[in-house]
Amino acid sequence: MDNDILKVLYSKDEIDQACKRLGAQITKDYQNEKPLVIGVLKGAIYFMTDITRYIDLYLDIDFIDVSSYNGGTTSSGEMKLVQDIQSDVSGRNVIFIEDIIDTGRTLKYLKDVLISRNAKSVKVCTLMDKPEARLVDVKADYVGLDVPNEFLVGYGLDFMGKYRNLPYVGALNSELYSDK
Ligand code: IMP
Ligand code: MG
Repeated sequence: MDNDILKVLYSKDEIDQACKRLGAQITKDYQNEKPLVIGVLKGAIYFMTDITRYIDLYLDIDFIDVSSYNGGTTSSGEMKLVQDIQSDVSGRNVIFIEDIIDTGRTLKYLKDVLISRNAKSVKVCTLMDKPEARLVDVKADYVGLDVPNEFLVGYGLDFMGKYRNLPYVGALNSELYSDK
């Protein structure tokens, strides 16, 4: 797999430092609370397992999966709930864990769903943020890394299902997606 990567943008070590910093911040901000931490499948699984081990609080974990309807080459922006959480969120302080925020549509949708279910608070923690790609007005409360508006893979991010299990984040050799 390494041969498919043009350049490593964020090493395993840099990602770990970001997890540590955000975990400490969340620990501080949620003192005496028991947040419900929801990982957004599938991309966030690596970040979810790493960051939660740096959060020194009692917490619950859950997972949710959403996808955008495919209406041609670019997504229509309409979201579909593929797998729901099992938890009752009413009155809970929720923290979403995301791999990356791009257009912001996923996050906007997820926040609206949980607010409509009467969560007490809904915050978002993302490892990566592409502010330049934003199409809807949504902001993350915790951001690990501001990343350039390029297509990235690794540490949860995929290209056609591949590369999620790379331990770092990199840019894909463009020859590999020229036939996209
Ligand atoms: P949004 O709804 O446009 O913000 O999309 C967020 C989702 O798009 C992320 O959770 C990723 O699954 C995917 N995504 C965005 N940028 C990239 C990328 O550079 N590589 C791989 N997947 C990405
Ligand atoms: Mg995702």
